[in-house]
Amino acid sequence: MSGPSVAVIGTGYVGLTTGACLAALGHHVVCADADLRKVERLRRAEVDILEPGLPELVADGVESGRLEFVHETPAAVAGAGVVFLCLPTPMGVGGAADLAAVEAVADEIRTVLAHGAVVVNKSTVPVGTAERVAALIGRPDVSVVSNPEFLREGRAVQDFRRPDRIVVGAADPDAARRVAALYAELDAPLVVTDAASAELTKYAANFFLAMKLSFANNLATVCERFDADVDDVIAGLGHDPRIGAAFLQPGPGWGGSCLPKDTHALLTVCEESGVEFPLLRATIETNVRHQRQLVERVVAGCSPGDGSLRGVRLALLGLTFKAGTSDLRDSPALAIARLLKERGAELRAYDPALSESRPDLSDLLTLAGTPEEAVRDARAAVVLTEWPHFRDLDWETIAGLLTSPVVYDFRNLLDPRRLGRARLTWEGIGRSFAMAG
Ligand code: UDX
Repeated sequence: MSGPSVAVIGTGYVGLTTGACLAALGHHVVCADADLRKVERLRRAEVDILEPGLPELVADGVESGRLEFVHETPAAVAGAGVVFLCLPTPMGVGGAADLAAVEAVADEIRTVLAHGAVVVNKSTVPVGTAERVAALIGRPDVSVVSNPEFLREGRAVQDFRRPDRIVVGAADPDAARRVAALYAELDAPLVVTDAASAELTKYAANFFLAMKLSFANNLATVCERFDADVDDVIAGLGHDPRIGAAFLQPGPGWGGSCLPKDTHALLTVCEESGVEFPLLRATIETNVRHQRQLVERVVAGCSPGDGSLRGVRLALLGLTFKAGTSDLRDSPALAIARLLKERGAELRAYDPALSESRPDLSDLLTLAGTPEEAVRDARAAVVLTEWPHFRDLDWETIAGLLTSPVVYDFRNLLDPRRLGRARLTWEGIGRSFAMAG
């Protein structure tokens, strides 16, 4: 077969990481994206997303000629032995995944695909999508494989190169083997299965992570009630290898581009197919309730007395859904900001990953260029993203700029003793100053 061996459709953080990492493994990869400006920038190895190691890999790939970028999908697909679909599957009406992009591309490539090509769904798609895409393509010589990604934003390159596992699902074992062979150099457990099981694995993984987080956040509330220290309880739990300490850090609720949309999509398909999964609904509801409770704490501490936050200026430290990314999609920080705003608060926020001009946020808050500017004349500061350098801010200066010395640390990030020395009152989640100090 002549031409590229791998095509990647969609150059978001999943597609670009997949393309650049496959090129680094020695494959010839052609990536396509509908955004022409993005394609032009990528050809010059200019990467817009914040993903450590990715710009270097893209530059290497472009320089070696193993990684190319095109605007037209058919140009990438023609001649490719394996075609990865790395397209957005946002939350659609009623919570189900919106497959419009996947279906449109399937339709676009059906006549262009090389004889015997394999199409791979990498986007998180509902159970049955591999079958549906195969039907849309309608070619007996073309197989559709599910190969879900488990890439964390901000660690995508690392996760690709050292995966916990590789899951490949297909009706045709030969197609599954061809996809698995692309990763042959990676040292990771390989799970080869049918397409539906592979598709479900991704949803189950993200649901389980969200469930751990809802558990941790609810546990923090229980700890507050009984004067226990959630950090110590979690340390005690996490040493049990059956439980593990990861994803048990309480915070302002879970969010991001995957966990909310995937848990909602799984809930929707379960409900539609008459399967009861009460844990799933409870996981989502716990997240919503937890965020409301956090906002009530701020109201209790900062309200002028009428149960509102009218006329109260608050400083928000961090807006992205986690540290190390500039992504705001479904950010729990924004969810909390909206709830505070609903109560009448005036919000000024600082986030190291965001520039000062964000017209999309202007109805909600004002962006400050420094933490000091954000806290000036604010009634309290609220930490919402776990940017590590927040620990080392000049808390004495901040104490002098706030109108009352309170910091709500909704990431349990800061050192309460350090804040105490700056004469600031620290309010964490699931632990009190006395315990932490
Ligand atoms: C997630 C999955 O981890 C990844 O496997 C999947 O393929 C895509 O979705 P990502 O959205 O990049 O990755 O973020 P992740 O690091 O999983 O964080 C999700 C949310 O959990 C964030 O809101 C984060 O702040 C929160 N979190 C994480 C906690 O509150 N506490 C923790 O201990 C860990």
